[in-house]
Amino acid sequence: MNNKSSIGVFDSGIGGLTVLREITRLLPGENTIYLGDTARVPYGSKSKETIERYSFEIAAFLLKHDIKMLVAACNTASAYAVPKLAKELDIPVLGVIEPGARAAVAATKANRIGVIGTEGTIKSSAYTSAIKAIRPEAETFVKACPLFVPLVEEGWAEDEVTALVASRYLAGLKDAGIDTLVLGCTHYPLLKETIASVMGDSVALIDSAASTAMEVKKILEEKGLLNDSGKDASHRFFVTDSPERFMAVGRRFFGERLADAELAALTDN
Ligand code: DGL
Repeated sequence: MNNKSSIGVFDSGIGGLTVLREITRLLPGENTIYLGDTARVPYGSKSKETIERYSFEIAAFLLKHDIKMLVAACNTASAYAVPKLAKELDIPVLGVIEPGARAAVAATKANRIGVIGTEGTIKSSAYTSAIKAIRPEAETFVKACPLFVPLVEEGWAEDEVTALVASRYLAGLKDAGIDTLVLGCTHYPLLKETIASVMGDSVALIDSAASTAMEVKKILEEKGLLNDSGKDASHRFFVTDSPERFMAVGRRFFGERLADAELAALTDN
């Protein structure tokens, strides 16, 4: 492993491409390897034990590709598995929870922060713990929004159905008078406009993807691991099932740069 090695990024499926997009935007010289666990998506409704096991299998696969850093783009995997991954792996490991929490604390003036995510992320209280570790007096208001993921994958991010679902999910957070809302799921940055129109201009929307990319840069800088070769970066994509669907839906998240996805067999590696 050296500074030309890739950054490994994983997610339960396609959504983590929002995080990869921010990383490649901020660090265009970095090689990346992305793994989407499309055979076992969704993670949001599964138990901690299962998500930990999946995440360790993925880490083992990516380590075989000589990655220099591991990024869990999936909020659910970040909430459930990153603490253990960080303890057990020899390379830096970053999830999206801490960067998102730091950005939320920096943005709030009223110390009233909303968090939305999958059932797993909300149940784990990972964002609340991370926010309170930075600012104990901050109050958090949480809401699981499980229908958002399938709506985005269906391509209905801007549909009236989604607007209706959003106003129903977010009504309680609106009433709570939050001034900051963490978009605690890979898919939610694609719903930014819909969510903003429900919450109004006075609520800052925190996209963990952008703050995570900044933290990736900081960590690589600190460790002397930034790629300074000046060569064009390579981006490899692996999935555990249906590369075609990944390519079709993934373009919504990553644009036309999405290279051909290869099939990964996690257990054989
Ligand atoms: N990637 C997941 C997350 O950010 C959302 C999709 C899923 O439930 O697997 O929590």
